[in-house]
Amino acid sequence: MTTANGHALSNQEPQSPQRRHLLATAVSLGIAPWLLSACASQAGVTANVAGDSATRQLTAGQRRKLGTLDVFPVGLGCQWRPGSAPGVVVDSYSSTFDRPSAVRLIQRAVDLGVNFIDTAEVYGPFLSEEIVGEALQGIRNKVVLETKFGMDLDQKTGKRLGGLNSRPEHIKQVVEAQLRRLRTDRIDMLIQHRVDPNVPIEDVAGAVKDLISDGKVLHFGLSEPGVQTIRRAHAVQPLTVIQNEYSMLWRGPEAQVLPICEELGIGFVCWSPLGMGFLAGTVNADSRFAKEPVLDFRAVVPRFAPEALPANMALVNVVRTWAQRKNATPAQLALAWLLAQKPWIVPIPGTTKMAHMEENLGAAAISFTPDELQQLNAAVAAVSIQGARLPPAVMQMSGVEARSKS
Ligand SMILES: NC(=O)c1ccc[n+]([C@@H]2O[C@H](COP(=O)([O-])OP(=O)(O)OC[C@H]3O[C@@H](n4cnc5c(N)ncnc54)[C@H](OP(=O)(O)O)[C@@H]3O)[C@@H](O)[C@H]2O)c1
Repeated sequence: MTTANGHALSNQEPQSPQRRHLLATAVSLGIAPWLLSACASQAGVTANVAGDSATRQLTAGQRRKLGTLDVFPVGLGCQWRPGSAPGVVVDSYSSTFDRPSAVRLIQRAVDLGVNFIDTAEVYGPFLSEEIVGEALQGIRNKVVLETKFGMDLDQKTGKRLGGLNSRPEHIKQVVEAQLRRLRTDRIDMLIQHRVDPNVPIEDVAGAVKDLISDGKVLHFGLSEPGVQTIRRAHAVQPLTVIQNEYSMLWRGPEAQVLPICEELGIGFVCWSPLGMGFLAGTVNADSRFAKEPVLDFRAVVPRFAPEALPANMALVNVVRTWAQRKNATPAQLALAWLLAQKPWIVPIPGTTKMAHMEENLGAAAISFTPDELQQLNAAVAAVSIQGARLPPAVMQMSGVEARSKS
């Protein structure tokens, strides 16, 4: 099945009746489902939806700034590892596909206007960067490529050695390997995955500054840092982004991190913007998550525990109600809510499904009136989420301050 402009439409059927309706209507019009949704959701989008130029018009008109970088409002997270059988690639949540499908997913996203791709050394380890590198052959210059260092990995085998490693000489070694895997001569955005408490952040920022001088890295960011560490890093090498978990399910950054970003002019990238699938409507009160043969990460996350889920479904109901009101899918609504918070926020939803990737882009065309946003924020705030956002061992790596230089 193809669109009017010859692009193959995904054959992976979205699940909800609303999504099925969206897909059926899109198919009957010969356009991508996300584009239909985008157009249906926003008054004032007047693109002729039948042609390729319409797709470009819609995407080209909607950009965000992360520092000086110009990106489509919705990025793409590429966090995959080997599955339990040869050739199988798995995400963190039990979805599987294969490497050629992952490559096609990235290429199709870029074709549709996505130009912000997130990955990391530790995703796989190495596998996700290799897939991204393969997918971007010939289209590398169209994207802002973001990757991360900071976990302590054996550089030959990828084996996790336990803990963190942001020693300057290690960072430089990691970047050389990342450039090879990503098949590129520069990393547009290099992120410290977690603050290494044993290495002064000034030394980390200094190492990245050297890499920037060498032209191997273009921009610097931190993930889940302590707030003083943000200021200290920024003083040595200006930060382009902070990448933290942020969604309707976890609003922690609103207290301190978003205000600091606003003050210092730093962009913000949201990881798990769909609440690990929860906000997209893929979880119900009875959902249980596999620990074997491959761990679904939600099996160890307290807010997805059997005792927490029934109460937490109240948030899904808010998302569903508002999605209907805005003629959107729940995933689109959840992403649009993030985009509405600040003009310098960019979510990077992860998916293994072409249809979901296409659907998620439609969030870029959904807007809220100030009154709608106030009502929606109040409805979200009225839900008290049960259970921590991460297991304790992972949680303790967030909000960490690097040791001082003295
Ligand atoms: N800095 C960090 O420490 C950190 C931590 C975690 C993640 N990240 C980054 O953030 C990215 C996104 O986070 P995430 O993958 O953890 O969580 P997420 O984007 O909130 O959720 C991903 C889940 O949502 C599902 N999904 C996506 N679109 C959907 C749609 N339209 N309808 C229904 N289900 C949908 C996916 O399943 P399907 O495959 O079935 O679509 C998957 O199960 C990652 O890929 C990674 O790049 C960074």
